[in-house]
Amino acid sequence: METKNNIRHIAFIMDGNGRWAKKRMMPREYGHKFGAKKFKEIASHCYDMGLQYLTFYAFSTENWKRPDNEVNSIMKLFMEYLDDAKKSLDKDVGLVFIGERDRFSEEMLAKMEFLENSTKNCPKKLCIAINYGGRAEITSAVNKLIAEGKTKITEDDITANIYSGFCPPPEMIIRTGGEVRLSNFLMWQSAYSELFFTDTLWPDLKASEVDDIIDQFAGRKRRFGGV
Ligand code: IPE
Ligand code: IPE
Ligand code: MG
Repeated sequence: METKNNIRHIAFIMDGNGRWAKKRMMPREYGHKFGAKKFKEIASHCYDMGLQYLTFYAFSTENWKRPDNEVNSIMKLFMEYLDDAKKSLDKDVGLVFIGERDRFSEEMLAKMEFLENSTKNCPKKLCIAINYGGRAEITSAVNKLIAEGKTKITEDDITANIYSGFCPPPEMIIRTGGEVRLSNFLMWQSAYSELFFTDTLWPDLKASEVDDIIDQFAGRKRRFGGV
């Protein structure tokens, strides 16, 4: 099954949780909590329409700069998600975590690896970018290749060695929260992605807006450098 526009992979930059909470005179953590709920809702909606691959930007390599209490509350929400994922995930959806793993607790790593291993044969994939940076991803792919003894590296080598090399690059990247930038997301994979930016704050995003954005995709002329 394919979606009407033959889209296989959509990547989301889930931005605007903090501002959403501030508008409600609540701490930023409150926004992240609603953001996490929204992530599950949007993911289910996209799989229901036939998408095979989804990527969500949950935490960047730069987000460690935030105050400790905010970082801790995001990690706590992530832990809750890991505990819940086994029950809440569709049976045919496999989880993959993309990003550097060096800063997570043993407990968190064990849960992540368990979920990845136990869902690895599922045909649909849900990539969660956590402690993820696009530059770090490319650098780590190059270092892996050097360690293997390669002296000449091709584009295909890098594609095969980035964290999400198993899935096609996203046809669409959707960023909520009004900022018009990629913030170090999918630097390699986004070369020919169609980019969409909406002012809607992530916790306010509705499935119907995702549908509208997918409709806009049909109007984009993808030339890939041709005419
Ligand atoms: C995105 O929302 C979630 C993370 C980066 C973890 P923000 O927390 O960046 O929300 P704003 O951009 O400050 O509103
Ligand atoms: C990008 O949002 C990272 C995630 C959504 C996880 P940020 O809020 O960190 O991006 P900047 O700082 O506005 O570029
Ligand atoms: Mg932000």
